Amino acid sequence: MATERKNARAEPSKRGGSEIHAPKGKLGVLVPGMGAVATTFVAGVEAVRKGIAKPFGSLTQMGTIRLGKRTDARSPKIKEFVPLAGLNDLVFSGWDIFEDDMYTAASKAGVLERELLDQVKPFLSSIRPRKAVFDRNYVRNLDGPNVKKGKNKRDQAEQVRADIREFKKTSGADRLVTIWCGSTETFLEPSAVHQSLKAFEKGLVHNDESIAPSMIYAYASLSEGVPFANGAPNLTVDIPVMRELSRQNQAPICGKDFKTGQTLMKTILAPGFKARLLGLSGWFSTNILGNRDGEVLDDPGSFKTKEESKLSALEHILQPELYPDLYGHFTHKVRINYYPPRGDNKEGWDNIDIFGWLGYPMQIKVDFLCRDSILAAPIVLDLVLFSDLAQRSVELRSLGIQEWLSFYFKSPMTAPGLYPEHDLFIQLMKLKNTLRHLRGEELITHLGLEYYD
Ligand SMILES: NC(=O)c1ccc[n+]([C@@H]2O[C@H](COP(=O)([O-])OP(=O)(O)OC[C@H]3O[C@@H](n4cnc5c(N)ncnc54)[C@H](O)[C@@H]3O)[C@@H](O)[C@H]2O)c1
Repeated sequence: MATERKNARAEPSKRGGSEIHAPKGKLGVLVPGMGAVATTFVAGVEAVRKGIAKPFGSLTQMGTIRLGKRTDARSPKIKEFVPLAGLNDLVFSGWDIFEDDMYTAASKAGVLERELLDQVKPFLSSIRPRKAVFDRNYVRNLDGPNVKKGKNKRDQAEQVRADIREFKKTSGADRLVTIWCGSTETFLEPSAVHQSLKAFEKGLVHNDESIAPSMIYAYASLSEGVPFANGAPNLTVDIPVMRELSRQNQAPICGKDFKTGQTLMKTILAPGFKARLLGLSGWFSTNILGNRDGEVLDDPGSFKTKEESKLSALEHILQPELYPDLYGHFTHKVRINYYPPRGDNKEGWDNIDIFGWLGYPMQIKVDFLCRDSILAAPIVLDLVLFSDLAQRSVELRSLGIQEWLSFYFKSPMTAPGLYPEHDLFIQLMKLKNTLRHLRGEELITHLGLEYYD
């Protein structure tokens, strides 16, 4: 609490690093898609604010950062090292195709227990969804009544922009961040309409099919100068027009697809195999889950978007082109099965066929009985706070893609032509070194020869 107050008072800081404006006033969080992840995030923030629970899993709230030499014993909390918005400064709004307020939506999602939810009921009940931009052509397994009308996609984008301005005014927020927690949309590939602002704006008027609803929220947010983070595998901000808008309006972007259960395990284990030069002949991953996300992913179009996102991690970590004997021929399969009895408590099985010295085969089985939204909620919080930090950083705000936030994503966005970094440990080092760099601290290389001089 004392830290939150201290940060709020801080002036634009410059101590050898680069300038970061202080987080004065409230930070408004806009969430398209107020389902399981979004409600678990907002209920959790309120529970932490009330002292009912702790923000486990959140780097911004519990993480530390080592500064200087190992012998210096300087490891402040990240939230004390960089000027982040405090939890008490967060205000929320969002959109959904269902009319349920956040308390009702959270009860239906069934992630959090009634006892906890009831302690934050007045707060959650006060957050009602705005009418959504929605089209069943992009999410076939859902339909709901709380949907905007409009003569074309441009008109819908204007309505979202009006929502954003209205929220800023009525909430008194000083700054805003949008984070997509909506359903996974059907698979789309970048096309002509995504290549420039001019083409995109023309496409909005002509209702171009390659413009999905998530892109309309992204366009509206970035046009209003609001950073946009994408928690689903949809293309959304991973197209040239959004990079252009982001840089032009100094509104940072990042995505795609929160790295939570099975892919988190993959990006923890695979770097270990590669470090020890253990070969891989196959990795079979299957999941059962019974929440609404599972229902949406039961549609082949939405599944394809997810599958592409889940498949990319191993290839990039293992680098078969550099290690053809070890990783040149592995089979990688990912399955998701919608199984209602499990609700949000997903079970992810991995069968991993590896080989070692002289080619002798071995097997590893992982059975992760995880809770999807419990793993996702702290990621949402960190992305909100770090996206806001990026926008207040004079150095980061004009870069567009915030690659240092790859740590949080299954399918991280990078500059065109650059391969994404998937190794969780490299991603964490990149994130922390970015923070050290911003504050003018020495980067940590782990060389350590100086200890033996
Ligand atoms: N939970 C995880 O671990 C995890 C991990 C990675 C990615 N994700 C992604 O995060 C997203 C949210 O997951 P969830 O479990 O909360 O799903 P959910 O189905 O509970 O919530 C998604 C909500 O989005 C709403 N929605 C759909 N299209 C919309 C639109 N155009 N505008 C506004 N609202 C819209 C739906 O009505 C629903 O309430 C999904 O895309 C999921 O794939 C989740």
